[in-house]
Amino acid sequence: MGEEIVRTSFSIPCSLLKELEEAMRAKGYKKRSKVICDAIRNYLAEYRWSECEGKRVAAVISLLYDHELRGASEAVIKAGHEYGQSVISTMHIHLDERNCLEVIVTKGHPKEIREFAEGLMGMRGVKQLKLSIMTS
Ligand code: NI
Repeated sequence: MGEEIVRTSFSIPCSLLKELEEAMRAKGYKKRSKVICDAIRNYLAEYRWSECEGKRVAAVISLLYDHELRGASEAVIKAGHEYGQSVISTMHIHLDERNCLEVIVTKGHPKEIREFAEGLMGMRGVKQLKLSIMTS
């Protein structure tokens, strides 16, 4: 069963709305509420990160990548070494002929873990990445 949806309204500067609509057209977004929900989720994610600034956190990075793409595996390994201080454990699963699932358990400063995850996300061959942050 889906989550209950509420209707709300808010005020927004005209120019900002115009800019939003242009960006939506460029990205092929059809529904304004979808864009707003995405933006709110991003904001909340940022907020959660800022809340743990200065603390040490544990986080799990799960990524799916295509090891057949030249340099993909090497790039993932290189990044792992670069952020070795934060990496506690890595599990590598050869899912099928091409795809590898890598689960990286990290502990350290949120900023560093985030940089590590963002670096991986931008790599060639990386198809999916999930970052779960654990705070106590
Ligand atoms: Ni593999």
